[in-house]
Amino acid sequence: MDSQRENSLRLLAENCVNFDAELLALLDKVYSEKGWDFRNYKMSSVKRRVMKRLNARNVSSCADYLEVLDSDKAEYARFFSSLTIKVSEFFREPEAFSALEAAMASFYRRSEGLRVWSCGAAYGEEAYTLAIILSEFLSPGALERTRIFATDIDGAALDCARKARYRDESLRNVSTERRRAYFEEEEGVFKVRFGIRNLVKFGCLDIVSHSPLLKIDVLACRNVFIYFNKRLQEEVFWKIDYALNPGGVLMMGKAEAIPSSFAYGYERLAACTNIYRKRDRR
Ligand SMILES: C[S@@+](CC[C@H](N)C(=O)[O-])C[C@H]1O[C@@H](n2cnc3c(N)ncnc32)[C@H](O)[C@@H]1O
Repeated sequence: MDSQRENSLRLLAENCVNFDAELLALLDKVYSEKGWDFRNYKMSSVKRRVMKRLNARNVSSCADYLEVLDSDKAEYARFFSSLTIKVSEFFREPEAFSALEAAMASFYRRSEGLRVWSCGAAYGEEAYTLAIILSEFLSPGALERTRIFATDIDGAALDCARKARYRDESLRNVSTERRRAYFEEEEGVFKVRFGIRNLVKFGCLDIVSHSPLLKIDVLACRNVFIYFNKRLQEEVFWKIDYALNPGGVLMMGKAEAIPSSFAYGYERLAACTNIYRKRDRR
């Protein structure tokens, strides 16, 4: 290797080491100032998101970005919003929801009230999808006794979720019949009808630092674990497992998996979908 190339590779490596150290200092500061703990999120994705904020604020290092945060407190909210990715849609990965409908028919009675949790609910599409499925499956009396909780770390996203207004592209997996039955359209905006909206209770919950909900029968935690590193996935899965009743149904995202130390406790319900039943070990 010629010495010029060797030199530039060494500089690149040194810059990377500096960037990583500065990034950790930035995440520490965000945690101590705001309590948002991104330190065990997947660093590749965190780095991409932080670089976006650096570019947006026209600074070239995390150290400079720390000064931006000190001088403009509103930047914290933008940083937070950039790190919590809220891409979602109704009936996302439709085959998973078909598998859920089959699981409901096999394991639950129509007359049974259920406790359901959408953890990492973003703008509410997943929680309302669950509400639609439950309203079709359960008897009116059971639906009245059913509780659907939708939580997220991002309170501003939940405020949007409560308004329940969506663009057409969020509904691309929703059939014409369901669009008609569950949405009111006005000038290209689709509002979830009151009967479905009223079934879902939204609340802020950081699954990394807060305690989980309890006694849950159906739990969707989809496309949240992909942002965590392996250690955090294990820690958070402990809470998910604690929340779920024996025999309960768990939905995870397509690119996610149950950590290996918990795998023995779960049975996969449908090939090609990440939907599981917690084994009853009582
Ligand atoms: C890509 S969205 C997934 C939305 C939906 N579950 C789905 O699969 O379509 C990821 C969501 O996880 C939330 N999230 C990230 N970290 C979280 C945490 N520590 N606690 C709770 N929610 C978190 C984000 O705010 C975001 O709304």
